[in-house]
Amino acid sequence: MDPIAYVNGSFVPLSEAKVSILDRGFLFADGIYEVAAVLDGKLVDSASHLARLERSVGEIGLALPESVARIEELQKELIARNQLDNGMVYLQVTRGADKSRDFPFPKGVTPTLIMFVTVKDIVNAPSAKTGIGVITVPDIRWARRDIKSVALLAQVLAKQAAAAAGAGEAWMIEDGQITEGGSSSAFILTKDDVIVTRPNSNAILPGCTRKAVVALAEERQLKVEERAFTVEEALKAKEAFITSASAFVQPVVTIDGKPVGDGRVGPMATRLREIYIDFARATAV
Ligand code: PDD
Repeated sequence: MDPIAYVNGSFVPLSEAKVSILDRGFLFADGIYEVAAVLDGKLVDSASHLARLERSVGEIGLALPESVARIEELQKELIARNQLDNGMVYLQVTRGADKSRDFPFPKGVTPTLIMFVTVKDIVNAPSAKTGIGVITVPDIRWARRDIKSVALLAQVLAKQAAAAAGAGEAWMIEDGQITEGGSSSAFILTKDDVIVTRPNSNAILPGCTRKAVVALAEERQLKVEERAFTVEEALKAKEAFITSASAFVQPVVTIDGKPVGDGRVGPMATRLREIYIDFARATAV
């Protein structure tokens, strides 16, 4: 079956889903995206993703062509039309297609809104049992990483380097400290059982999964410290893990080929993964 995509008001077969070559998302990466997980046909942590979408578009002066309530309805309809059980909904909004390639915002142009789904069994991903390796790369991104912009070339290069090295993610380094993963938030568990993750700022994307995991951990009286950490500290930690809508909580067992702790998937990452999946199931809409 040809999957169904959403493009500017219509549901169309993916093979027929098109936008103009003049679209500013294509020409300038002038757009915002969101990725939300789908579990058992339902959207995971949807309110959090939609709140971040509103914030991101606000930060670049882009008006959504539909209300977030309508966007959630469209996402649900897309899931239903694709009979999607487990995977992700990708959503992108750009400043639309103007007649000319002028840098300033065009007037009277309707933003482009597209959505499509991908199939992925995140809960049963084998890497949750084995863990993944990460490599480190310099963080060469722009200074507003808190905006979920479609300008992802730095992450494409970082994750390509990771893939070429047989690693599952790239951790980006700035001023000697880890900012985040190419498409995930970075965490460690220290020797004295403190969960450490970098605080939100312009340096990182405010991860929805990160936010939920921090709250769920604190509810369970686990110690959480929001501060930056170095690769050296991560290597000396008991455990490391990443969080994202596309992987939930994913254990990290090596950094640049060196083991984290005993080099095996640790109990905290596994526990937080289970807690997150329970939360995701219980709150999905
Ligand atoms: N990426 N940091 C970056 C740079 C990201 O791109 C992502 C998500 C995250 C985690 O955010 P969340 O928990 O809200 O998914 C952190 C998505 C999954 C992607 O680009 O595919």
